[in-house]
Amino acid sequence: MTTTKVRKIEHLEITLYKNVKFREKTTWLEYVHLIHCSLPEMNLEDVDTSINFLNRRIKYPIMINSMTGGPKETFIVNKMLAQAAEEYGIPMGVGSQRIALESKLARNNFRRLRKVAPSTILISNIGAVEATKLSPSEVRELVEMIDADALFIHLNPLHEALQWDGKPYYRNVVSAISKICDTIDVPVIVKETGCGISREVASMLIDAGVYAISVDGSGGTSWAAVEYYRATDEALKSLCRAFWDWGIPTAASIIEAYSANAKVIAAGGITNGIDIVKAVSIGAIMGSIARPFVKQAWKGMKYIREYIESLIREIKLTLFLTGSRKLLDVRSRNKVVIYGPLKEWVEYRGLKLPFAET
Ligand SMILES: Cc1cc2nc3c(=O)[nH]c(=O)nc-3n(C[C@H](O)[C@H](O)[C@H](O)COP(=O)(O)O)c2cc1C
Repeated sequence: MTTTKVRKIEHLEITLYKNVKFREKTTWLEYVHLIHCSLPEMNLEDVDTSINFLNRRIKYPIMINSMTGGPKETFIVNKMLAQAAEEYGIPMGVGSQRIALESKLARNNFRRLRKVAPSTILISNIGAVEATKLSPSEVRELVEMIDADALFIHLNPLHEALQWDGKPYYRNVVSAISKICDTIDVPVIVKETGCGISREVASMLIDAGVYAISVDGSGGTSWAAVEYYRATDEALKSLCRAFWDWGIPTAASIIEAYSANAKVIAAGGITNGIDIVKAVSIGAIMGSIARPFVKQAWKGMKYIREYIESLIREIKLTLFLTGSRKLLDVRSRNKVVIYGPLKEWVEYRGLKLPFAET
């Protein structure tokens, strides 16, 4: 077994069976309060949850976030998620395709995903560190492998630094991203993996030519926690413990990236439809969910469907109860209160909110 393959399987097992959530830190979406409207002046059925994404109209603002994929054990999970993505017409990111450059089996498994999800939006994935080493034709190969609609490049400096076999080599990443934006035919979306993206980083990425930013902030899955369980020596375990809660809370990161004029995808600790509407209210276009999906997939297809149905019901009801016929109607000073540490953060950092004055 290659080390990449072993690592992928370990990551999946740890996220399924161990407590890998942030300990103290939350997403801060609890500091976004949507104001109840007792007179929505419409029926529940009037709510329209659709959005534009990658020049397509999609029915729900939900994405299945990038997770795993190549080895047989993890492909089974991804295949079920792809089937659900196809059924509901929601976008899905695949996990890092680095392994597909090493193994023919992994390559074939990635290719099979497109057969399972022939019409929905699929997004390729590669790490920023690999991105600095790949030639334009290798990046194109990864995209073509799943006939992807876009490419995710993931940033994970903390995760690389905490893996005993990690590669915390972040020199020249921005120029590599910029080169990829210039040379591939699909839009590039940069994502984090649980530490969030600041306004300054978002601005650099926009200047480099990225289409959108998935903030993947703090409050959900902690990759320091995942590596804590993989670490074999005490010094590394202690470092993982120290950085368990590191990062920008998701709600703050959404407003950071929005303030850089980015198209923002909310991710990191999103678990339900109310979270998604709250995220949209402060600047995101949709919510993207990782670990909660993999946990459902582990139980079976029926559970993935039930989870998506519950997300849809919650999104619709939240919009109805805020008197919002369409998703973006929720972005109004009359509908949203931000308070507590999130308000302080926004003021201290001089960030902007997307509120229309109606
Ligand atoms: C099992 C698992 C595998 C993951 N693999 C990848 C990956 O290959 N590439 C990537 O960009 N993110 C990967 N992630 C990170 C997620 O996309 C996401 O950024 C992070 O888990 C935070 O979202 P959550 O709180 O909804 O889990 C993975 C997450 C999980 C749970």
